[in-house]
Amino acid sequence: MKVLVTGGAGYIGSVVCERLREEGHDATVLDDLSQGHREAVPVGTELLETDLRDRRALRASLSGRSFDVVMHFAASSLVGESMKDPGRYFENNVSAGINLLEESRRIGADRFVFSSTAATYGEPERSPITEDFPTIPTNPYGESKLMFERILDWYVRVRDLRYVALRYFNAAGASGTCGEDHDPETHLIPLVLKAAADGGKVHVFGDDYPTPDGTCVRDYIHVLDLADAHLKAMEAMDRGVGGAFNLGNGAGFSVTEVISAAEDVTGRRIRKARAPRRPGDPPTLVASSARAEEALGWKPCREDLPTILESAWRWHREHPRGYGG
Ligand code: UFG
Repeated sequence: MKVLVTGGAGYIGSVVCERLREEGHDATVLDDLSQGHREAVPVGTELLETDLRDRRALRASLSGRSFDVVMHFAASSLVGESMKDPGRYFENNVSAGINLLEESRRIGADRFVFSSTAATYGEPERSPITEDFPTIPTNPYGESKLMFERILDWYVRVRDLRYVALRYFNAAGASGTCGEDHDPETHLIPLVLKAAADGGKVHVFGDDYPTPDGTCVRDYIHVLDLADAHLKAMEAMDRGVGGAFNLGNGAGFSVTEVISAAEDVTGRRIRKARAPRRPGDPPTLVASSARAEEALGWKPCREDLPTILESAWRWHREHPRGYGG
């Protein structure tokens, strides 16, 4: 299939492009490179360097092209940043998304796979989270993704759109060639591995949460497993499947547990320091992915934390300064 991958120079998008190519699909990346990396786009994949907020530029980039499916990764995606700069989140994740929907429609691309998030749920009272839980985001990031899911619902009703929204839990790990490289880096696993490499400290944001050891619990899912879900989602839309699906392993690990597993994987001691809670962080986010298993035929197959950490550690050692290094 011909697939337009927005944000294909970013962490998850680049791995999906790799997998699409391996499976014989034709991927084209659209990315403004504000956060993505040219080096992350697989060799031989066309890159359209375009800012989705610029409707005219987007129209010009897509003019004369056709795609079967749009995979929409491009977004601002940091919980903490969204608490400081909500406007950026609504602009990049909602307004820019509407531009993409409208311009995709003009060229007849009416199937969407949308990168959504566990942050749409807010602070659920029970665990694991299923898709019928209330969606009450506790930060503008989650709110912006939920708003776009609802917009997609309306496009299904009033236009002929089909979509699958994939609610990622905590993406982690690396493929052989693509890994996590954000500037600034705020995610736990790359920061923990950096600390293992350079002897710096990891700040543990809050140790008084209502969790077994007081630190936040998250469901870490291998980026290659996430990538496979996108390919399955693309096929499933042909069978009439649509809506939102959780993607996680169903197992939660606390910040302290991640640090200690990383010590085992790297064979190094990792220094940690207590730090205040980070605004907007829910205590526990663990997925039930039963719906994805049933409707998409997807099941993670790299689910144990050491496997995920080993792949990230390998990538980190091969790219100590990220893509630039
Ligand atoms: N954390 C620390 N110290 C750090 C960095 C993170 O203690 O230096 C903690 C956070 O407070 C959180 C956990 O580690 O409890 C994981 O934090 P990340 O920043 O790695 O990931 P988040 O859970 O904040 O967010 C990620 C994605 C979001 C997605 C969310 C869903 O960035 O897009 O997972 O679970 F919404």
